[in-house]
Amino acid sequence: MPNGMTRRLFFQHSFLAGAGALLWQRLNPFHDLGGGPRAPGLSRSAGIPMIITSKSNETGQRAMEVAWEMLAGGGSALDAVEKATNIIEEDPEDSSVGYGGLPNERGVVQLDASIMDGKTFSAGSVASLENIKYPSSVARLVMERTDHVMLVGPGALEFAKSWGFQEENLLTEAAREEWLLWRESHSDEDDWGAPDHLKGREQGAQQNEEPAETHGTVNVLAVDANGDIAGITSTSGLSYKIPGRVGDSPIIGAGLYLDNDVGAAGATGRGEDVIKSCATYYIVMRMKEGRSPQQACEDALQMIAQRYRAVGLDFLPGETFRAINKDGQYGCAKTKGTDLPQMTVAGESGVSVCEGTIAFPDDEEPQAQDPDSSRR
Ligand code: GLY
Repeated sequence: MPNGMTRRLFFQHSFLAGAGALLWQRLNPFHDLGGGPRAPGLSRSAGIPMIITSKSNETGQRAMEVAWEMLAGGGSALDAVEKATNIIEEDPEDSSVGYGGLPNERGVVQLDASIMDGKTFSAGSVASLENIKYPSSVARLVMERTDHVMLVGPGALEFAKSWGFQEENLLTEAAREEWLLWRESHSDEDDWGAPDHLKGREQGAQQNEEPAETHGTVNVLAVDANGDIAGITSTSGLSYKIPGRVGDSPIIGAGLYLDNDVGAAGATGRGEDVIKSCATYYIVMRMKEGRSPQQACEDALQMIAQRYRAVGLDFLPGETFRAINKDGQYGCAKTKGTDLPQMTVAGESGVSVCEGTIAFPDDEEPQAQDPDSSRR
């Protein structure tokens, strides 16, 4: 283990032949792969190579293994985050990203993605992109081959096709069945579903089970051996959304932000609040002031809760933030719920599934705390 490593290991077993150990760990505020906490304002030319993703399932772990091999071989953070994201985007089992993502209210899969390259302070994104399996790669082309940052809808599709991307049906059978169930059960005031006189009879319990809306998304953030940082956020967005709805994922400073001298942050969850609060920009700025990634993620959740309290609303949006810095530290935190948020981390010591913190556990009342008054 590198010097300075302070993690608590909860679980350990080998993962993928030749790929190192899979470690299960719970995060502490200064969780790191080495290097110690940063002094405020300190800028370093090199960083500690690492890559993380918000996905902790088998696909996420495999993506981290593949991407870490690239980084360990001297590859760039930019190439590593794209490769890892593509692996997750093409997973048909993932109903929140790329192929297999849940569709909008009309049954059409519309994808959002963004990418940032810290080395060149560049960004690209696409929104409401249909029929293209790898929106993150299209976003990279927007970043590298145009003078724009964002392309949307038919323009984004036309751009992708001009670069050779093939149109394909992204709606898997499983996602289509989920959507049909949602269409029949989300309202008892429309004409979808069984005839009125048979409602609740032949469809039984299924009739009453409205599928939950989901905001699942993937973040992939990396530092390479040169100390350059790159990141991607990719999603099929809010399930059953109004056609054309754009979430936080393709918005730079909302679903994704990074600063090559500091670190990177990504968001998953209710995009509307991440946009309103410029949450990942806030997290990176907090890290620039000396907060650890874990502290900065928690600060952002407090900041959002505070914004609602300030206007007299008792509302806590479901968000999860993940962040890394150039010193090999990383963290994640979510607003509410009972299950701890997770992330997969790959570095010199192997691949680890980590658990973060919950700012407002379901059994606790929100505390009146302004993160801007808690600078350490
Ligand atoms: N965070 C993904 C979305 O709200 O679209």
